Amino acid sequence: MKYEKISAEALQEQINANVNIRIFECLDSTNTSAKHYAEDGMPEGGLIIALSQTGGKGRMGRSFYSPENCGIYFSLILRPKIPPEDISLITPVAAVAVAKAFEDIAKKSPKIKWVNDIFVNGKKVCGILSEAAFNVDGRAEYVILGIGLNLLEPKGGYPEDIKNIAGSLFSENEDFSPNEILAAVVNNFFEFYKALKSKAVLEEYQKRMMLIGERINYTQNKIENSATVQGIDQKFRIILKNENGDLIHLSSGEVTIGSKRITV
Ligand code: BTN
Repeated sequence: MKYEKISAEALQEQINANVNIRIFECLDSTNTSAKHYAEDGMPEGGLIIALSQTGGKGRMGRSFYSPENCGIYFSLILRPKIPPEDISLITPVAAVAVAKAFEDIAKKSPKIKWVNDIFVNGKKVCGILSEAAFNVDGRAEYVILGIGLNLLEPKGGYPEDIKNIAGSLFSENEDFSPNEILAAVVNNFFEFYKALKSKAVLEEYQKRMMLIGERINYTQNKIENSATVQGIDQKFRIILKNENGDLIHLSSGEVTIGSKRITV
């Protein structure tokens, strides 16, 4: 890495929330590690960082490629005192936090692919995976917010299976500070997290959202349809308009940009 090393001191100085930082050269998965810390009672603000992961986890059971000298992989322990139905807002809000940091610090123009992937120049440069543990009374005991930032392209490029989709925020000849980027993501996140259901956060998301106004195909209950993307609603569901002019709100799923298709 030609940029400065991630350091707890530098981060502590720049993060204006109460965080408890643990940095590792390599972990299986920062989400798994953060879960152990949370189970052991670490309060909100636990920030587990790895410079590489051997078993980085992605959404829908996928893996997240996490080589050394390329990115930052981290998980934040949260103990939200919010209704269980609002827990799902944490990931899209984190997407806004990342996108804003990429704009303010890295001077890039990120786009959010619903629900929570960040794209720069048409390539995915960040993945977000939240995992929650619930009490018997149905409330969240803790949430692990895991974020993987692809900062630099691996030497020799990305593996064959992801090379068409994965990208990096910076090229080799750009200067940047990973501490500054990570601190900005965490600071932004805590700011938006305080106002999880605010109109402002929703607007911040929507103005960076990919595919707005575009016609896409989507599959619901195994039936294939096509519709135009309108935006998101207050629950961060995607709003589509079908050929009859009806509005459809889809609450989770996947948008594959290449084929412009959503599977719910
Ligand atoms: C996705 O794109 O499907 C989500 C990827 C999330 C990856 C991050 S990297 C840090 C944290 N630890 C993990 O094992 N996964 C998340």
